[in-house]
Amino acid sequence: MKDVIVACDFSSGKQVLEFLDKFAGCARKPFVKIGMELYYAEGPAIVREIKKRGHRIFLDLKLHDIPNTVRKTMKVLSSLDVDMTNVHAAGTIDMMKAALEGLTREDGTRPLLIAVTQLTSTSEERMQKELLIGSGIAETIAHYASNAAQAGLDGVVCSPLEAATVKERCGSSFIAVTPGIRFADAAADDQVRITTPARAREIGSDFIVVGRPITAAEDPVAAYLRCVKDFLNE
Ligand code: C5P
Repeated sequence: MKDVIVACDFSSGKQVLEFLDKFAGCARKPFVKIGMELYYAEGPAIVREIKKRGHRIFLDLKLHDIPNTVRKTMKVLSSLDVDMTNVHAAGTIDMMKAALEGLTREDGTRPLLIAVTQLTSTSEERMQKELLIGSGIAETIAHYASNAAQAGLDGVVCSPLEAATVKERCGSSFIAVTPGIRFADAAADDQVRITTPARAREIGSDFIVVGRPITAAEDPVAAYLRCVKDFLNE
């Protein structure tokens, strides 16, 4: 189940397909994350095209709306045959349950559904002062994760440094998908709470999401394979 997910943060289909062409000769087909930028630029056609090329897809659209809207939207996303998608846990347990219902296909299969707890760009100070959430950020993240587990979701997106706490609270099979990954010898860019692929494995991440260390590398295939080797120990 564990895997490296490549965050394809490109703004056009042309760019992402040119990037994926580089992996044509690679023994492993990368699991690909499509975010809002690419999806809003290109629509469902880009999801179908990347799927047709044999990649698994994490569609990172972070839904947050009333339960009925989320249920119906998830039904549409499920028919796109993605492998993983997500919602904001802040939408409440009812909304997460509705998302799960919408995602579940007639034959009972469905993509993995994970929740965003607090965005890593939200500091504890802003969460408390602007959002009026009185608890500390670590406790809020653990609580949102347990709400997601209660709703029946498969896991959460969190910083690798939070993965262990999430697993303690929600059980070891509850999935931790962790961005904020950097090679030990590389720049942090704008990420703050970062760790290496090997350390993420030790902490218990199930999927690491890696963007610029692969997409901006001189040799993206080599960088991807280095991540796979470090994270999966393969
Ligand atoms: O380039 P980099 O490795 O920093 O990319 C990380 C990816 O993970 C980006 O697509 C970013 O939007 C996403 N992400 C994140 N932190 C979160 C949730 C998603 O960095 N909490």
